[in-house]
Amino acid sequence: MEIKNMIETERTETGKKVYPEYYEAVAAIAQPRHFPSPVNDPEWIKSATDWFVESRTAMEVGPGRGEFAEAVVRKRRELKKYYIVDMSGGMLNLVRERIRDVETEVEVIFICADVDYDPLFEIPDGSVDRIIMVNAFQDINPLAALRVFRRKLAPNGLFRANVLSGEIREKYCFAEDFFDRDTGCFYLTRHPSIENKKGLKPIGSITNKEGEKIPFYRILKSYYRSELDEIFYDCGFEIISETPVILPKNVWMNSVAAQGKEHTNIRRLELIDKLGGYPSSVDIIAKPLTNLKIKEGQ
Ligand SMILES: C[S@@+](CC[C@H](N)C(=O)[O-])C[C@H]1O[C@@H](n2cnc3c(N)ncnc32)[C@H](O)[C@@H]1O
Repeated sequence: MEIKNMIETERTETGKKVYPEYYEAVAAIAQPRHFPSPVNDPEWIKSATDWFVESRTAMEVGPGRGEFAEAVVRKRRELKKYYIVDMSGGMLNLVRERIRDVETEVEVIFICADVDYDPLFEIPDGSVDRIIMVNAFQDINPLAALRVFRRKLAPNGLFRANVLSGEIREKYCFAEDFFDRDTGCFYLTRHPSIENKKGLKPIGSITNKEGEKIPFYRILKSYYRSELDEIFYDCGFEIISETPVILPKNVWMNSVAAQGKEHTNIRRLELIDKLGGYPSSVDIIAKPLTNLKIKEGQ
C-alpha cells in the first residue's frame, strides 16, 4: 500500500489536533450518532466503571455525551467527588442534562478546560485517585496533559485511557484512509454536519492522490507502544497494563465513523467478522513513578 508518500499536509496553526469548535458543533447535532467508543459496549462500561468507582475522588477528561458519567453516578459505590473536564461547554451541558435527574450522592464538578494548556488549578494536587479518558487520548497533547494529571494524582492513583494503537492502525488501515504510518496520524476530513460547518475552521489541509487539497478538521493520533512508554515515562508514569479493545460489531456499525464509508465497509465488515469485532484501541493503565524511580532512570 503506497500510503506513506501520499501524505502531504499543511497546518494552519501548530499544536491542536482538534479545535473546541469542532466539538461544539458535534454537541449541537440534534440526532447524533455515537462515537466509535467502548462506552457503547455494555461489558466494557461495566468493568471500567467498577474500576473507576473503587476510588473516592476521580476525574474524567473528555466525557462527550456522558455515557460513562451516567453509569458512574448511578453506580457510585466509594465515589464521593467526580471531576468532569471537557474543553467543549456544549459537551459538558449534554452531560449535565443527562445526569441531572439521576439520584446520587456523588458530588459532580464540571470544569470547562482544554487539557492541552490548562493546569486545572481547581483540583488540589495529589488529590485524585483515578483519572480516565475514554476515546479522547487521540485528541490531546499528551506531553502537556499527562504532566498535569501526574500532579493531580494521589501517589497510589491510576490513570487509564484507551489509546489508538499505531500497530493496530497500521495493520488494518485501508489505502483510502488518510493515515500516515510514520507519525501514526489519521487525518479526518469529515466534519460534524453541513449546518454546523459554518465557521468551522480546518486544522489544515491534506493533498490527495489527484493533487487536490482537502481540508481536515481533526487529527486522530495513534501511538506505537515504544512511543507511549517514552511519553509516559517523561511525564512521570509507568504503564502497568495493556488490554486490546475490540469494539462489538453493532457498536462500530452504528457509530459516526462507519457512516459514508460504504465502499470500504464491506472489507471492514469482513475484518470485523474475522476478528469478532473492530480492533479499535488499547486500554492502558499507568501509575505514577516515584521520584526515586525517575532519578534511577536518568
Ligand atoms: C471523541 S469524543 C469522546 C467522548 C466520549 N468519552 C466517548 O467515548 O464517547 C472526545 C471528547 O474529548 C473532548 N476533548 C478533546 N480534546 C480535549 C482537550 N484538549 N481538553 C479537554 N477536552 C477535550 C471533546 O470535547 C469530546 O468531548
